[in-house]
Amino acid sequence: MAFARGKVILLGEHAVVYDRPALAAALEQGVRSRAEASGGENELVIPPWGVRWRESAPTHEPTFRAWQALLDLYADHPWGPRRRPLRIELDVGLPGGGGLGCSAAMGVATLAAIDEVLGIARSTHERAERSLVWERVFHGQPSGVDSAMAAAGGIAIFQRGREMRPLSTPEPVRLVIAHSGVSSSTHAMVQRVAQLRELSPERANAIFDEIAALVDAGRRALEAGDLAMLAASMNRNHELLYDLQVSTPELDHLCEVARAQGALGAKLTGAGGGGCMIALVADAYHESRVVEALRAQGRETFAAGIATQPGESRR
Ligand code: MEV
Repeated sequence: MAFARGKVILLGEHAVVYDRPALAAALEQGVRSRAEASGGENELVIPPWGVRWRESAPTHEPTFRAWQALLDLYADHPWGPRRRPLRIELDVGLPGGGGLGCSAAMGVATLAAIDEVLGIARSTHERAERSLVWERVFHGQPSGVDSAMAAAGGIAIFQRGREMRPLSTPEPVRLVIAHSGVSSSTHAMVQRVAQLRELSPERANAIFDEIAALVDAGRRALEAGDLAMLAASMNRNHELLYDLQVSTPELDHLCEVARAQGALGAKLTGAGGGGCMIALVADAYHESRVVEALRAQGRETFAAGIATQPGESRR
């Protein structure tokens, strides 16, 4: 049995695609994957989604293609799934299209489950890197932040091509997460930002640079336990994501609702265009006020458990 975490981006989405750093935190929620010898052929089962796919009956579904891309990684392995088929079952504890790294967690957990059956040990870095074949089916050119967080857990600074930098914080990070009710397409949103960058490269790069500065300020604030400072960076980051045209009126509204109930800061998280917003709260009192107010808007809302310690993706 393997486990990989979902994530929230506290600061830095989209800019991270253009080699700026991002500050991300792993969630306690994630995806479990179990791999076992199959009697006949390779099978992928995702019970709550009603998925029971066999390799001999291909579909165009991205998850099917991602699974096949992952199996191809083991093509030359003498006991790999191409020679000894596996039945893989996923237990998905994250909303898909929510900006919480669900697809990356599915990829990392599936890779880890296959490795487990084959007795292959890998570093979390290697696991995240190899599983990118799964993410690429969904997102084309992922920065890798989702897969890195899914594999490693913790709170960290991620920057493409560099070692991930785990952070520790003296203050617990309390987040409320609310889903806007609209599914987010990372691929479409990354494309949108790419178009904007093509039209106005200077403006886009200036936004990315300001986001990078916010990531740096947020990192220092987090390490010093200065949640108000972290929240100020989050609020400004949301404005910059609005300027990049990846926010929606609903995400803006949910951020306002959270702030009005005493959240220290709020922003969309992940690709935007739908998906989730996150609100940073100081204590349990404000947490429950913010949760209630967001639920009163009819939005699926939960207080997030942040997995503060970096750790293995397997539990
Ligand atoms: C998605 O969680 C974050 C984005 O920056 C895309 C990526 O980093 O690959 C929007």
